[in-house]
Amino acid sequence: MSLIKLHQFHSILDDRGLISVFEIEKDLGFTVRRVYCLTGTVKGESRGYHAHRDLRQIVVCLSGNVTVHLDNGKIQEKICLDDPTVGLEINSMIWRELHDFSSGAVVMVLASEFYDPEDYIRDHDEFLKEVQN
Ligand code: TYD
Repeated sequence: MSLIKLHQFHSILDDRGLISVFEIEKDLGFTVRRVYCLTGTVKGESRGYHAHRDLRQIVVCLSGNVTVHLDNGKIQEKICLDDPTVGLEINSMIWRELHDFSSGAVVMVLASEFYDPEDYIRDHDEFLKEVQN
């Protein structure tokens, strides 16, 4: 079993550049209630360090690259995202860390729910406790 679930989105490339197309409900199987973006990213910085109790997300690195570390309490995997046509699905109860941003990387996150601070688990020991129950 792998924690790395990738979605290949439709894209159109010509000499003017690339269009990547996210036909949300058709491609993802869940409704997107919130889109947020990480911009102004600083080279080598890290973010994340949390899990969500219910939220499902698709992470797309639209420009530059970032390495995402995933942990389900049993196995840990990591993947470098550097393709604006590929989305990494991160389901509920997965601890995620985003490391090694390239300078100015642009990351778009498609999320299944509105922002809810109560949905976050920010303590790794608490995450391990909840995920094992
Ligand atoms: P957070 O999700 O904690 O990002 P990271 O773990 O990478 O630091 O978000 C950082 C801050 O932004 C936190 O105070 C919550 C706030 N925030 C919102 O208010 N709405 C949102 O949709 C998101 C994603 C974050």
